[in-house]
Amino acid sequence: MRTILVGGGAGFIGSNFVRYMLGAHEDVKIVNVDKLTYAGNLDNLADLPEDRHLFIKADISDQVRMEEVIGNIRPDAIVNFAAETHVDRSIHEGLRDFVFANVMGPQVLAEATKKFEIPLYIQISTDEVFGALELDEDRLFHEETPFAPNMPYAACKAGGDLICRSYFKTFGTPIIVTHCSNNYGPYQFPEKFIPQAIEKALADQAIPIYGDGLYVRDWIHVIDHCRAIDLLLEKGVPGEVYNIGVDNERSNLEVVKMLLELLGKPADLTVTVKDRPGHDRRYAIDARKITALGWVPLYGRADFERGLREKIEWYAKNTDWVERLKSRGAEFNSHIKI
Ligand SMILES: NC(=O)c1ccc[n+]([C@@H]2O[C@H](COP(=O)([O-])OP(=O)(O)OC[C@H]3O[C@@H](n4cnc5c(N)ncnc54)[C@H](O)[C@@H]3O)[C@@H](O)[C@H]2O)c1
Repeated sequence: MRTILVGGGAGFIGSNFVRYMLGAHEDVKIVNVDKLTYAGNLDNLADLPEDRHLFIKADISDQVRMEEVIGNIRPDAIVNFAAETHVDRSIHEGLRDFVFANVMGPQVLAEATKKFEIPLYIQISTDEVFGALELDEDRLFHEETPFAPNMPYAACKAGGDLICRSYFKTFGTPIIVTHCSNNYGPYQFPEKFIPQAIEKALADQAIPIYGDGLYVRDWIHVIDHCRAIDLLLEKGVPGEVYNIGVDNERSNLEVVKMLLELLGKPADLTVTVKDRPGHDRRYAIDARKITALGWVPLYGRADFERGLREKIEWYAKNTDWVERLKSRGAEFNSHIKI
C-alpha cells in the first residue's frame, strides 16, 4: 500500500483528489489532514472507504502537531491543498489566516518532509502568483515566468511556493510545486464564481458580474487537475515546477452566458457589481511541460459546455449538500457590493 498524506482534503479540490485517488488506485491509503475552516466540509468525504481513508483534524501550520502526525505515519508522499483560498476574503478580511495557512503551512510541511525523509511533497499552488496578463497580450504563464502577485491571496501563495523552492535548492528536499488555473466541478464551495452563478440563476436572481465582465480565466475541470497531480506523483521530478491548464480561456461574461443558456434562463439575468480592487485581467497557462509527461485532459476547451452541464446537474442533484452548508451559516457572497 502507498500512504499519501493530503493537506486540505475536506475542501473543493482536495476532496475531489481524495475521492479520485481512492477510486483510481486500490493500493492507495489517504491520511487527510484538514483544519475544517469554513471551507472544509466533511460532507465532501461522506461514503469514502473507512479502511483506506483516515481523517485528522489539524492545522498544517502547527509544527508540533504536524511533526507528530507525519512522524507517526511516515507517508510515501504529501500532497498539500490546504490554504485560505478566497481572493475577496484576502482583500476584505485581513491576511493573518492567509499567512498562517499559505506561507507557514508549506514551511511546516517542507520541514517535516526534510526531517522525516518523506520521498515526495507536492505543493499545490495557483497561476495567480504570476500576476496578470492583458487581454491582447501574446504571452502565457510558463514555469519560469517571474512571480508578480497582485492579490494578497496570491502573494501568500507565492511565499509558500518560494519557501518550497528554497528547501529544494538548499537542502535537496524533494518538493514539486504546481501552478494550476481556475478549477470547476463538484463539491465547490458556493462562494466561488461558477457555483454562485448557478445558485443565483436557479433562484431566478441576477448573477453578479464584476465590472465589465471581461476578466479571463483558463477554466479546468477539477478531475483533470487531480489526474495531473496523480501523474506527478508517479513521473514528476523533485525540484521542478509544473503549470497545469487546458487552454480554455473564457471571460466571466462568456461563462455566465453559457450557464444561463444551459439553465434556460434569460440572457440578461445579470447585475453589474462594484469591481474587485486591483482585479487581475487575464490568466493563461502554458502547460506543455506536464503535457510532455503524458497528461491528457478529459475536458478540453471543446468540452467546457459538457463540463458546465454536468456541474449544473451535480448541484441540482445535491441540493441537500448546499442546504446543509447554508444551515451552518455559510456566507455565499458577503463581499459583493451592488
Ligand atoms: N479553486 C481553484 O480554482 C484553484 C486553482 C488553482 C490552485 N488552487 C489551489 O488549490 C488548493 C485547494 O483549493 P480549493 O479551491 O479546494 O480550496 P478550498 O477553500 O475549497 O479548500 C481549502 C481547504 O483547506 C483547509 N484549510 C485551510 N487552512 C488550513 C490549515 N491551516 N490547515 C489545514 N487545513 C486548512 C480548509 O478547511 C479547506 O478544507 C489551494 O491551495 C489553492 O490555492 C485552487
